[in-house]
Amino acid sequence: MSEHFSTDIKTLTRYILETQKHHPTASGDLTILMSAIQVGCKFVESCVRKASLVNLVGLAGNVNVQGEEQKKLDELSNDMFINALRASGKVKTMVSEEIDNVIICEGDGKYCVTFDPLDGSSNIDAGVNVGTIFGIFKHNKDSKTPEDDYKVPGSDIIIAGYCMYGSSCNLVIAIGEGQVDGFTLDPSLGEFILTHPSIRMPSRGKIYSANEGNSLYWDEATRKYIDSVKYPQTPGTKPYVARYIGSMVADVHRTLLYGGIFAYPSDTKSKDGKLRILYEGFPMAYICEQAGGKATTGLKRVLDLVPKDVHARCPIFLGSKEDVEDVEKTFAIYE
Ligand code: AHG
Ligand code: MN
Ligand code: MN
Ligand code: MN
Repeated sequence: MSEHFSTDIKTLTRYILETQKHHPTASGDLTILMSAIQVGCKFVESCVRKASLVNLVGLAGNVNVQGEEQKKLDELSNDMFINALRASGKVKTMVSEEIDNVIICEGDGKYCVTFDPLDGSSNIDAGVNVGTIFGIFKHNKDSKTPEDDYKVPGSDIIIAGYCMYGSSCNLVIAIGEGQVDGFTLDPSLGEFILTHPSIRMPSRGKIYSANEGNSLYWDEATRKYIDSVKYPQTPGTKPYVARYIGSMVADVHRTLLYGGIFAYPSDTKSKDGKLRILYEGFPMAYICEQAGGKATTGLKRVLDLVPKDVHARCPIFLGSKEDVEDVEKTFAIYE
């Protein structure tokens, strides 16, 4: 075997096939579904890579259900994922950040998919990392309405993942049983290759990540916690380092690898916070927990929430287990 080239590469598709081996009922449906998600991610990656060259930056001229001005890439990536997932034939319904209602698919797909096709889109025009976030749930045959499939706790999630479009294209996936793995797109092959096997989050970090431009509007508990890492009371303890990119995928990816805490708290401007439960909170909380971290609203485990509607939001503090436990202890004082 050549000492330069591996001829036994673990692609994402091979990885999913191998994990399916452990599920006797597996029919290959998840492999096909994940292939559709990979196509979407590769398409968005290619668009992001050349956005400024082909005039894909800037606004599309529409406002989405969130009240946000949609970027061209918001719409393009949204259309791509909807078409790829629908064509897979494995999806019963979908929820996208960019579409008001639940998207119904023909046929008898077994899965429900939630996704944020382009996360961090305010950063697109500046060439800063953006991403895609997705969660896969089982369709419940007892659901009376399409919405019923999404009124479930995040702990029902089967697979969660994100793809970050940055200096390289990194896809991180959590498939359950404490398994979180990272893949890097090899553009010459067009395949995601396993590069970060068995990601484990440090039990405590030294970085905090929050938009302090909102601190005027934070509640007392949030302010108390953030101050505790900025002005540590224990003699000899150094303050945490501040890092905030403004794309959830990038801030969470750094937190997953380096440890620490990422927070998007609620505030007087947005009482439930900004991040959406189904396609930002749940997938990222699941990935964090599977990697040994935690995710809380301050008062409740994020994965125990049951969203009232498909675009419901929640406050979120996620990251290293001990750091999140410090948040929970602080909030318990103010409960
Ligand atoms: P999206 O681009 O999908 O609408 O998500 C943006 C989110 C998330 O990526 C990030 O953590 C947060 O918005 C940043 O919000 P602020 O600019 O208010 O800090
Ligand atoms: Mn948005
Ligand atoms: Mn987002
Ligand atoms: Mn988005």
